[in-house]
Amino acid sequence: MTMHPSDGPLLQVSNVNIEYRTRERQVRATHDVSFDVWPGDRFILLGPSGCGKSSLLKAAGGFLTPRSGQLSLAGSVITSPGPERMMVFQEFDQLPPWKTVLENVMFPLLASRKASRAEAKETALHFLHKVGLAEFADVMPHMLSGGMKQRVAIARALAMKPRMLLMDEPFAALDALTRRTMQEELLALWEEERFTLLFVTHSIEEALVVGSRILVLSPHPGRVRAEINCHQFGLNDFGSEAFQHAARHIHDLLFPTNGASPSPSSGEETAYVAATVHPS
Ligand SMILES: Nc1ncnc2c1ncn2[C@@H]1O[C@H](COP(=O)(O)OP(=O)(O)O)[C@@H](O)[C@H]1O
Ligand SMILES: [Mg+2]
Repeated sequence: MTMHPSDGPLLQVSNVNIEYRTRERQVRATHDVSFDVWPGDRFILLGPSGCGKSSLLKAAGGFLTPRSGQLSLAGSVITSPGPERMMVFQEFDQLPPWKTVLENVMFPLLASRKASRAEAKETALHFLHKVGLAEFADVMPHMLSGGMKQRVAIARALAMKPRMLLMDEPFAALDALTRRTMQEELLALWEEERFTLLFVTHSIEEALVVGSRILVLSPHPGRVRAEINCHQFGLNDFGSEAFQHAARHIHDLLFPTNGASPSPSSGEETAYVAATVHPS
C-alpha cells in the first residue's frame, strides 16, 4: 500500500475537454480526461501523436484553458502559469542562446524574485553540479550537445524547487543511448529530490521505465483508456518477462485489434500490472 498525505492529490484533472478554434474549424484535442497526480508521483501521459498530451501538459502549466472541465493544483483552479510548475520541452532551443549555461539556470530564480543574485548563483551551481555540468557553467548553449542542453533545462527547472515538474517528450530528440542515460539520470535526481513529475511520452518503454503511474490515452481526440501502476519497473527491467508483458498489455490498449481483442493470459497480467480499464 502506498501512503498518500491526507490533503489530497497535488494535481487534479477533472473532465477536461480541450479545443482549438481557428476561423475555419474547431479541433477537439482531448475528450473528458480525468486523472489525479499525487505528491511524489512520476505520472506519465502516454499516447500516439496528436492525442492531446502536449495540450494537457500546457493546461497543467496554465498556458491554455480547457473548453470545459478544470485542473487544480493543491485545490486551487489553475488559471495561469506559475513558478511552482516548471516545464521542460523536447526542443533543444529552449535555452536563450545569448546567456551562458549558468545565467540560463539563474534566470527563472531572478525573474521570479525568488533569490538574490548571489543565492541564485549558488543554487544554479548546485543544480548544474547535480546534472554533471558544473564545469560548463560559463559556456554558451550552442557549445553543448543535445543531451547537455536537456540537462541544463532540467537543472534550470529543478533549481526553482517546483511543486511539479512538467516534461514534454524531453528525450525524444536524443539518440537512443543518450536517451537511456537521461532516463537514468532523471530517476537518480528523483530519488534525491522527490519532485512530482508529469511526463509526456509516446514511447511505451520510456513510460514503463520513467513512470510510477501511466495514463494511457486513445488516439485523437485523447480519451482515457486506462491507468496503470508501473512503479515496479526500473532501468534494469528492460528485457524482463514482466516488463515485456506490461509493454504488450499497453500496446494492446493503444492499438486494439478490430472486434473482440483476445488479451493474452489476462489473469497473469494483473499480477504484473494493476490496470483500471476505462470504457471508450
Ligand atoms: N495551436 C493549435 N491550433 C490548432 N490545433 C492544435 C493546436 N495545437 C494542437 N492542436 C491539435 O490538437 C490535437 C492534439 O495536439 P497535441 O496536444 O499537440 O497532441 P500530442 O502532444 O499528443 O501529439 C492535434 O490534433 C493537434 O493538431
Ligand atoms: Mg506533443
